[in-house]
Amino acid sequence: MTDFVIAPSILSADFARLGEEVDNVIAAGADWVHFDVMDNHYVPNLTIGPMVCKALRNYGVTAPIDVHLMVSPVDRLIGDFIEAGASLITFHPEASDHVDRSLQLIKDGGCKAGLVFNPATPLHYLDYVLEKIDVILIMSVNPGFGGQSFLPSALEKLKEARKLIDQSGRDIRLEVDGGVKIDNIREIAEAGADSFVAGSAIFNTDDYQATISAMRAELAQ
Ligand code: DX5
Ligand code: ZN
Repeated sequence: MTDFVIAPSILSADFARLGEEVDNVIAAGADWVHFDVMDNHYVPNLTIGPMVCKALRNYGVTAPIDVHLMVSPVDRLIGDFIEAGASLITFHPEASDHVDRSLQLIKDGGCKAGLVFNPATPLHYLDYVLEKIDVILIMSVNPGFGGQSFLPSALEKLKEARKLIDQSGRDIRLEVDGGVKIDNIREIAEAGADSFVAGSAIFNTDDYQATISAMRAELAQ
């Protein structure tokens, strides 16, 4: 049976109480903390950087921190996030001049590495780097904001990515990000995803545990 990962995106958390929010969501059954980094350049929004990641580690967060870089250039921030305690770092291949080098920088720092695919980005960026990939992240919205609706075209892409992973025989997680809710998570899993980012669907509810349990119940069906 697949071990599904639920990764709440703290983009929708209360930033004024971030440590507490992360504690609460992990206590509610989440597996990873999804950490969205936006630079007002690669995407039209500005969020949080390595200092906040480090602050969460200093606060006592031990769960894996899944850093999603929506920044250009990519490489300089990789070192800062490794230093800050990231567990996994993903970036958008279009945002890096040298995709293989960026992946290698992440791996050299002892983190897991992955590429993120926007809705219109083809999967062929994986062609020559698959052996360096631990996670493939399929965007099911255009990056930049939480609370958008799931784009159905992501389902076909998830199926293609699942095929690639299975053919490779490698241990690669297939993550999906954007518009994931209780009522569509099962269909998304059926398309091949095993790791689910959910921001507004979790943080905009009063009872994180009930929401995450409902997601797991859908996945168990
Ligand atoms: C969007 C971010 C997502 C976002 C997901 O650019 O990468 O992680 O926070 O938010 P929801 O789950 O609300 O679509
Ligand atoms: Zn994200």
